[in-house]
Amino acid sequence: MRSDNVLILGIESSCDETAAAVVKDGREVLSNVINTQIALHKKFGGVVPEVASRRHIETIDAVIDGALEEANVTFDDIDAIAVTYGPGLVGALLVGVSTAKALAFALNKPLVPVHHIKGHIMANFVAHKDLEPPFVCLVASGGHSHIVSVEDYTHLEIMGRTRDDAAGEAFDKIARVLGLGYPGGPLIDKLAKEGNPKAVDFPRVRMDKNSLDFSFSGVKTAVINYLHKLEQNGEEYNKADIAASFQDAVTDVLCEHTIEAAEQKNSKIIALAGGVASNSALREKMTKLAGEKGIKVVYPEPILCTDNAVMIACAGYYGYLEKNFADMTLNAIPSLSL
Ligand code: KG4
Ligand code: ZN
Repeated sequence: MRSDNVLILGIESSCDETAAAVVKDGREVLSNVINTQIALHKKFGGVVPEVASRRHIETIDAVIDGALEEANVTFDDIDAIAVTYGPGLVGALLVGVSTAKALAFALNKPLVPVHHIKGHIMANFVAHKDLEPPFVCLVASGGHSHIVSVEDYTHLEIMGRTRDDAAGEAFDKIARVLGLGYPGGPLIDKLAKEGNPKAVDFPRVRMDKNSLDFSFSGVKTAVINYLHKLEQNGEEYNKADIAASFQDAVTDVLCEHTIEAAEQKNSKIIALAGGVASNSALREKMTKLAGEKGIKVVYPEPILCTDNAVMIACAGYYGYLEKNFADMTLNAIPSLSL
């Protein structure tokens, strides 16, 4: 199988972004088109699955055409079609999977199934051309928080995961109770810059000392209870201080567990991935604390941290090299495990 000059068309529709991208040899981005539905879901304070599916259907053809056009290629030039088939919202995933299957069948091209979380990790290969496995990766998004040992381009070992809420989910919830809007992560990140991270000492939860697993429901509840108490007593509070203190607690735990994982694996590189990887406090703190232990921290630019199809095309390239092809029975799997 040819391994150079391979063009992969990536398709992503697992949540509220309809995205398509063309990537060459897994690392060179020829196009990256994202139609975000954030404005559509904002008024509901979160993603409404049925509304998301309908919007994916309306936009996916134009998004794919846009990705080919931006890359200055045609369907004939594409070597394989990679698509996210899980995890995610079932109706949303089905739009991408059905479209990818139709294209693969009509064009007689291989179809490469991609795990969404694997895609997030792979964004680091696009962002850092000389990055090679093995390394440890923290994947923190709206639906997932995992510490993963990236053994090679296709094999991953899970070292820790959240036992309840994902980190991004906690950010979104706290932003909502602070009345900041949706999605919460970037808004908390921004507001926290004006606050004191040591204003309130919110809990840093460790499930047990031998486990790298996370739990974010405790800190979320602690913030909500703290605010309720103040409100009941009619006391004023500084939202920026709350945002900064909450963010400090979450990022402390993310850093501590991930650095411990890297030390266990004797890894000198930590990569960050997923929407929460664009958090400025997390990037700074991880870089500083890991740096003190001689561990380098890498992460993609924010547009490759949140959902995109470049990461799917990149993962698709390595699946293509391994001939990991799906047939026309490929289905969306909403709770696909890693
Ligand atoms: O990876 P992603 O786009 O979608 C999922 O796969 O879930 O991640 C979205 C999540 C949301 O919860 C959002 O609030 C969070 O990532 N996020 C952030 C930041 N930017 C996005 N969280 C903290 N700080 C940010 N700057
Ligand atoms: Zn994602």
